[in-house]
Amino acid sequence: MYLTREEEKMLDGEYGEGLAKCMRLLVVLGEIFEAEKMVRVKSCHVSGVSYKNIGEPGLELLKSFAMENVRVKVKKTTLNPSGMDRKKWRRMGLPENFVQKQTEILKAFKRVGVNLTCSCTPYLAGNKPKPGDYVAWSESSATVYVNSVLGARTNRESGLSALASAITGRTPYYGYLLDENRKPNVKVKVKFKPSNVVEAGGLGYLIGKIFPERVPFFSGLGFMDFDWLKALGAGLASSGAVTLYHVENLTPEAKLFDGKCLAEAEKFEVEREDVKKAVEDLSEAEERFDAVFLGCPHYSLNQLKDVAYFLRGRKVKAKLWVFTSRSVYVKAKGLGYVGLIEKAGGLVLCDTCMVVSPLENLGLECVCTDSCKAAHYLPSTNRVKVKVKSPFECLEAIS
Ligand code: F3S
Repeated sequence: MYLTREEEKMLDGEYGEGLAKCMRLLVVLGEIFEAEKMVRVKSCHVSGVSYKNIGEPGLELLKSFAMENVRVKVKKTTLNPSGMDRKKWRRMGLPENFVQKQTEILKAFKRVGVNLTCSCTPYLAGNKPKPGDYVAWSESSATVYVNSVLGARTNRESGLSALASAITGRTPYYGYLLDENRKPNVKVKVKFKPSNVVEAGGLGYLIGKIFPERVPFFSGLGFMDFDWLKALGAGLASSGAVTLYHVENLTPEAKLFDGKCLAEAEKFEVEREDVKKAVEDLSEAEERFDAVFLGCPHYSLNQLKDVAYFLRGRKVKAKLWVFTSRSVYVKAKGLGYVGLIEKAGGLVLCDTCMVVSPLENLGLECVCTDSCKAAHYLPSTNRVKVKVKSPFECLEAIS
């Protein structure tokens, strides 16, 4: 792989062992995927933050970077959710020893220069790349969003490779950075209009399962607001490894593909009933559940507004946790949405998410959520059963 003089210096340790370690990792990655060179990145997003996921080895690695005075070169480097809300962790019932370890991890990231956004929607927290920008993002739901909806270019990075890119300012030039890999290779004709976020996420979940490594081109979808696109991508990226999709007349690159390219793609049709079945398969049949968790991916301001208005004058009869980013939380608080949700008995949480937080000791048996991604992961990460319903059905059932 061709390296510039500057990149060679990084690799040879002229700027310290920390930087050399990161460059070595990226060179190995580039060689595996036969990248011809490195390119500069304008933005990074780093996952692998919760102590529950990275444990002592991850903490030690981060501390070693911090001790070697390694700093990120890429100013726009944001962080995925951690295992706790930094202010409300007691209300989440988290043990103090976990909180202490999680705090050490966050401190180490801060010393390395990463912005502690702690959200999987960094594009709502000031990290919003432009079309065509090369970026290095991890977190599958964020990666598919930045590629598909924003039109920037990233591979599906691991937490470590995204951090290495943030530190070196480089990523190997391969995969979804190249024009030829951004072409759709399956054309999905959607024969219904999704009517809520569960149908959008369920459509993604179904297509990701059938075509786990493809670039789908959706037609017939009509209007999709950005929350539905977020759910569509999260579904595609959780049942499969889909990292890029296009929606006819909507996403930025869809117009680039002419009739010939689409004619060569495999064809597939999907009906509302197929999606309904996919969602039912993810979901427990019994109606009883102990908690409602919303906000996977993190809720936007509009989604918080809808929850707040729905709960006006109501009281919830079960645990209701709504997850969002701190930047959205601050706005939502200012507009009174957080107050309305918490007055009804819910809790609005930031910095964390239902999957990476250690909630397995809360004694929950079944959780109701509007997220197909959460439904996919929660049974294994938090040992709970899951029921999937639209946000309003979830709220109606407990208020
Ligand atoms: Fe975000 Fe956690 Fe879901 S990182 S996409 S809320 S699993």
